Amino acid sequence: MRLADTAMITAVLDGLRPELAAGTADRVSRVRAARLLTKLEHPLSPAQADVLRMLVVDPAVDPIPVARAGWDMIAAAGRLPAADEAGAAALEADDLALALLTETSLANPPAEKALRGVRRWLLLSGRAGDFPRTTAAFIAQARRNGGAWPFDHEESARLSPAEPLADAYRPPRPIPKAAGAFGSPVVEAIAEHYEEWPYPVWERVMDPGDEDLASLLASLGPGAPTLPESPEILVAGCGGGRETMLIALRAPEARITAIDLSSASLAYAAERCSRLNNVTFEQRDLHKVGELGRTFDLISCSGVIHHLPDPEAGWRTLVEVLKPGGVISVMVYSKLARMRVKAARKRIADLLDRPIDGDLMREARARLLADPPHPLVYADDFASLGGLRDLLLHHHEDNFDVPRVRRGVEALGLEFLGFNMPGSERRARYRAEHPHDPWFRDYDAWAAAEWREPDLFAGMYHFWCRKPV
Ligand SMILES: C[S@@+](CC[C@H](N)C(=O)[O-])C[C@H]1O[C@@H](n2cnc3c(N)ncnc32)[C@H](O)[C@@H]1O
Repeated sequence: MRLADTAMITAVLDGLRPELAAGTADRVSRVRAARLLTKLEHPLSPAQADVLRMLVVDPAVDPIPVARAGWDMIAAAGRLPAADEAGAAALEADDLALALLTETSLANPPAEKALRGVRRWLLLSGRAGDFPRTTAAFIAQARRNGGAWPFDHEESARLSPAEPLADAYRPPRPIPKAAGAFGSPVVEAIAEHYEEWPYPVWERVMDPGDEDLASLLASLGPGAPTLPESPEILVAGCGGGRETMLIALRAPEARITAIDLSSASLAYAAERCSRLNNVTFEQRDLHKVGELGRTFDLISCSGVIHHLPDPEAGWRTLVEVLKPGGVISVMVYSKLARMRVKAARKRIADLLDRPIDGDLMREARARLLADPPHPLVYADDFASLGGLRDLLLHHHEDNFDVPRVRRGVEALGLEFLGFNMPGSERRARYRAEHPHDPWFRDYDAWAAAEWREPDLFAGMYHFWCRKPV
């Protein structure tokens, strides 16, 4: 980062601190500050750390990137606690670390290792009662991450139900409902997975302010689609509801129908989205979406099509309920980006014939965290068992490459409106290197760029298409 950027970010954060402390900072400034904070190099100054502590609990702010920046800062400042009484005392007094542990799943392997050490010390010394804030934060963390942190036999032997730290190891979880009958073994296996582990596990999203859906669509470039004032929107495979929340906040006038196979995911989504009054959640296989007897102006389908028994057939079903002139946003796994996941699965191949439960997933995490750690351990999804199940232990995935995306778009007679590449810096770089393709629509250029940089799409292709009128 350039010195000028750092100075600008520092000035913004320092300027906002008194208003944050007084509770008078407006939502837009708080979200902007949270975004800037995650761009700073570490270690942060004490004043910036204080801003971070206030923003990680802010209802307008997604705590995941903020907490990531917070743990990086704590690690860079040499503040990760030791696995002894002094370490437990330091953690007990560390308001920032306790807030981060409480607000979201910890996605920083060195910090996780240090904190697992403190948890082990508390358990084996029987001293949890002397460190009540830390014990409560460990329990909150386990509730968030599903009990993701591995532990050893000595700890296991001490985990009686009366143990105050028991829920910090194996948090109570609902007994999953049986998956519905969907008439396809692949669909039923997928439903079973998400009945047990709804995805994604999330708390809050960044408040979009005035970044509405219309301006997002306008940014797609020449011929960008427009929507009616109160569009009909379908979220196909809405999972835990984060995608639905992001759309609903950007389109408060829309009427949104969100469907999923998994009743547990729908219940989780409805609870997280309870402040929305323009969304209906419904249990339904997307292959049967035509039975709704409705058509949509916009369909969003993220992270679903590659899990279908026949991805192109499922995609076609969705296009059939898209209105002429309507827009579909699709996210599918990139085969190339998933090579990293394939490599990780090799490291745990001997575990894969066992039933997938919490113990197996903790073992898989321990294996990948062991030296040298697998690159996957730095992914946000690695931080929780629900995330890990989705990232690494899927029953069925049939992934895409750019030519397959192109064949699908063309076979469905759609107009391709371009790829969405995450990260403004990457977008700017692509544009500078491909001046003929400012709207990201040249499949061949994208395929070549992905080969040069396999993580280009951050694991998934996200693209937009329009159904001709
Ligand atoms: C990886 S999650 C993605 C959730 C959400 N779209 C997101 O991006 O945050 C995949 C979701 O698709 C759902 N799903 C998979 N196949 C489906 C189908 N045939 N019909 C409806 N939902 C399906 C799963 O139950 C799961 O909740």
